[in-house]
Amino acid sequence: MKNSFDHVAHRLVRDGRAAFPLKTSDLILRVVAGLQSLVNEPEKVQSRFLVNRSKFEDQEEGADDGLIFKDGGVNPTNGDVYDEKWYFQVKPGLPTLLKAQGADMHGYGKWIGYCMELHERSTVQQLGIAKGLDRCIPGINLYELMSCRTAMSLSTLRLLLYKEPKSKQNYVVGKKHVDRCALTSAIAELRPALRLFESNGEAESAPELYVARPDEVLVFAGAKAEYLTDLLPAQGHDVFDMVAATEPPRWSIVHFGHTNTPVHPKYLHSRKLPDVPSAVGQAAAATM
Ligand SMILES: [Fe+2]
Repeated sequence: MKNSFDHVAHRLVRDGRAAFPLKTSDLILRVVAGLQSLVNEPEKVQSRFLVNRSKFEDQEEGADDGLIFKDGGVNPTNGDVYDEKWYFQVKPGLPTLLKAQGADMHGYGKWIGYCMELHERSTVQQLGIAKGLDRCIPGINLYELMSCRTAMSLSTLRLLLYKEPKSKQNYVVGKKHVDRCALTSAIAELRPALRLFESNGEAESAPELYVARPDEVLVFAGAKAEYLTDLLPAQGHDVFDMVAATEPPRWSIVHFGHTNTPVHPKYLHSRKLPDVPSAVGQAAAATM
């Protein structure tokens, strides 16, 4: 009898994405509350939570970890205005690095523990799915490529917290793109806003809004998986959050699982897919 990871693997190959049970409801609100608290701390407290990994390791992708503020501003090429938001990026070994630079582990140690636990649970699930994909698509060796030391050092849980919208009609939009990683797990979001496209963006089909259920995550392929096999095309997606100023700012939690292999060449020079005509608004989602 096939195990549940095999079912997910088959659905990933068939549909390009698959929702899958993962116990997270005991952690999500704690994880979000910790970030909401940290962003209200004085700058001198916050600065200890920013980790520049390139100081410690030979890192190219996602070099900064911990607390990162993404400034607003305007894209000079297309005039897009970017919303201001906070990232909190979690990778293996983060607590050690935070302690080393004097972060307030007395106040935030428990919270960091919750973040690490969520990262661990999602990683275990992604590696299980990788094994399922190996059985489904012989020869790709995804488990080995995702579980090696280099790949694990890139495995990133990202908490996103937007700042208060500046205007009433301030749609928060992550422009259509594919992720650079091998597997993405969309773990939780404040309200549905993630939209999925039928193919990798070449078709003009209307996007499908993903509505998350508690203790379930959505897993889909990124550009590194597509590099390994065209049976796993990278999932095009955007984020379209129609939010009024009176509603709380968006948060979301995503896990990017990496291999130590390159992204598919067709995504090397253009991370963004063509614009979606209906995507009126602001902010481009970072790809990872
Ligand atoms: Fe993305």
